[in-house]
Amino acid sequence: MCLLIMRAVGFERHGDPSVLRVMELPDPRPGPGEVVVRVLATSLNRIDTIVRRGYPGIPVKLPHVPGADIVGYIESAGPGTDLGEFRVGDLVLVSNVWGCGSCRFCRAGLEDYCPGWTMPGFQVWGGYGELVRAPVRALVKAPSGFGIDELAVLPLAYSVSWKALKVANVSPGDWVLIFGGSGGIGTALTILAKALGARVIAVTSRPNLMKSLGADVVVGYDRDELMKVVSERTEYGVDAAIDVIGDTVPMALDAIRPGGTVVAFGVLGKSPMVQVDIRRFYLRHARLVGIHNATRTYLREVIDFMVSRGVRPFISRVATVRDAPALHELMESRGVVGKVVMRHEWD
Ligand SMILES: NC(=O)c1ccc[n+]([C@@H]2O[C@H](COP(=O)([O-])OP(=O)(O)OC[C@H]3O[C@@H](n4cnc5c(N)ncnc54)[C@H](OP(=O)(O)O)[C@@H]3O)[C@@H](O)[C@H]2O)c1
Ligand SMILES: [Zn+2]
Repeated sequence: MCLLIMRAVGFERHGDPSVLRVMELPDPRPGPGEVVVRVLATSLNRIDTIVRRGYPGIPVKLPHVPGADIVGYIESAGPGTDLGEFRVGDLVLVSNVWGCGSCRFCRAGLEDYCPGWTMPGFQVWGGYGELVRAPVRALVKAPSGFGIDELAVLPLAYSVSWKALKVANVSPGDWVLIFGGSGGIGTALTILAKALGARVIAVTSRPNLMKSLGADVVVGYDRDELMKVVSERTEYGVDAAIDVIGDTVPMALDAIRPGGTVVAFGVLGKSPMVQVDIRRFYLRHARLVGIHNATRTYLREVIDFMVSRGVRPFISRVATVRDAPALHELMESRGVVGKVVMRHEWD
């Protein structure tokens, strides 16, 4: 069998953005139950930079190809694969997580809970490559009404943000506190929370941008300033606080109303270690929920919600996969807002 070669941006060792380079790698071949997707576009996510530096405790096999977001055409299917609702040539999105398919969690549709979870661009090669291998059960049909660039930003940021809002039972009229407002997740959370009819307090260094996206109140990271705003604007505290910074979780717990929820799923601050006065936690009947990745059910749900409400993602820039090294550098120097698309345009 002749070896076919795909182009990708990847790395052979961990390090700063300069380790990223254009590579020629053997085409992935689909196994049973799998397809190969020809990727049209991916998007920049913080996890790409974290995996490039080396995620503590989760080694990746080198060379590696990052990219958690994938939109493209089904190019081929593995031997004996039942494609179900899909056909070769369909435009699809790939969910940002799939499980082993057979454990108790996978059988219950909770592939994000699977101890053997796999994320494209993390445990396996991802969307910075021209071709990606994925199981059929991770595919979602692309809806009509969105362009390729918009589809490319949905699988990770919009499905996980949707999951965070659902886990916190965010309802019309609720106050939602969002840390890291102007990032990919922060903008997705703000757009989706507003479309759900909630009121948003965005903690951000970019107040004007967050106002333009619909945030009702914008505030900086100063604890006293934040608590003042929360007590002025809400009756008993916010109904939900969504945190991707990590060391702001104690502030989030202080800002919620009795019985409110904090959803945490990221570390961007100085340390992943935080101190919480457990009395403040239980006297407030607080819920602190950790989440990680979102199954294709959440991806389908958020797509249906966005299509039915005419909600569009916020994209600040459209680039190509070749621009990945510069974009990683920009993201790590906090120069990126919203979502950045990277198309597979190579010539
Ligand atoms: N567990 C999961 O499933 C999951 C899924 C997606 C993302 N995440 C995590 O969520 C976090 C955000 O991801 P993202 O893709 O939205 O990243 P991003 O686009 O880089 O956004 C991060 C935003 O956080 C704010 N920020 C505050 N302190 C910061 C600091 N010390 N360094 C950098 N940014 C800081 C900035 O917004 P302002 O300037 O507005 O403050 C920045 O734009 C990451 O930790 C990522 O790993 C986790
Ligand atoms: Zn499993």
